[in-house]
Amino acid sequence: MIRGEPRSGPAMRVLSGSANQALAGRLAAHLGAEKVDVERRRFPDGEAYVRLLSPVRGEHVVVVQSTHPDPNLVELFLLLDAARRNGAARVSCVVPYYAYARQDKVFKEGEPISSLAFSTALEGFFDDFVTVDPHKTTILEHFSKPSRSVSAAELLADHLKTARIDAILAPDVGALRSSTLIADRLGVSVDHLEKKRISGTQVTIKPKTLDVQGRSVAIVDDIISTGGTMIAAAQQLLASGATRLVAACTHGVFAMDALAKLKEAGFAEVVSTDTLESAASRVTVAPVVAEALSRPAPDKPRARANPKARE
Ligand code: R5P
Repeated sequence: MIRGEPRSGPAMRVLSGSANQALAGRLAAHLGAEKVDVERRRFPDGEAYVRLLSPVRGEHVVVVQSTHPDPNLVELFLLLDAARRNGAARVSCVVPYYAYARQDKVFKEGEPISSLAFSTALEGFFDDFVTVDPHKTTILEHFSKPSRSVSAAELLADHLKTARIDAILAPDVGALRSSTLIADRLGVSVDHLEKKRISGTQVTIKPKTLDVQGRSVAIVDDIISTGGTMIAAAQQLLASGATRLVAACTHGVFAMDALAKLKEAGFAEVVSTDTLESAASRVTVAPVVAEALSRPAPDKPRARANPKARE
């Protein structure tokens, strides 16, 4: 339960995977729930081993595990299976960062629909599913069980209140919705960047309408992976006269030493949430995940997308 609010049904217990131990602790505190003691380790060949060390029979077990990198996906299957097999009355699957959501359809002939493949494999193990800022909310249609997503936008906005921001920029139109929400909460202007191809090898990226001269700008995206998008945007914004840059995202994947590269590119601050743990995780999504879990799961399952569809 969110502190102070009534809860009915079986007692809630939080079962943390390796990926989200800090978030799981914060979530348990927000829910007023005990954590399940668990042993997690790897065999010498790399295979995962988990064992529940406290009883969960008759309880509502909330398994928390992001699915990046790939070994965490395997561990998630094992944790869900252990919860069910040990008699949990209800199993909620919380995947703070749902990897592979960018491959939510067939872009080129011969490809899989990765997010659908994983949701199909996972959903036999849980009763309901919660994720945070999936790359596209359409991935929820891949589940036939109750599923919902929550947004970190307001939490990121509250963090940015202390960061002296004059304007918010989305790196593309897709990120404009949550960027607008953040800008509204901060009372600053918002725009999105436009990529224009000059030649086969040259692109320019600049704000569509916003003048960034002399301004402190936060670029907000759902995911920072290699940091390439943020760095390309930073180069253009600095060339256009922006004086200070902040990079903010929900999911800090930070592949290939991206955090260091972002600092080198001139970002004064890089901030992410704790859906993935890193040195930039300064915002916790625990309050919004706890709030979702405290509401009844949506009872009408969404329609399953046609796996053969090519959009
Ligand atoms: C893609 O559409 C996402 O919203 C992010 O913009 C992308 O994942 C960022 O990747 P990278 O940091 O590698 O540029």
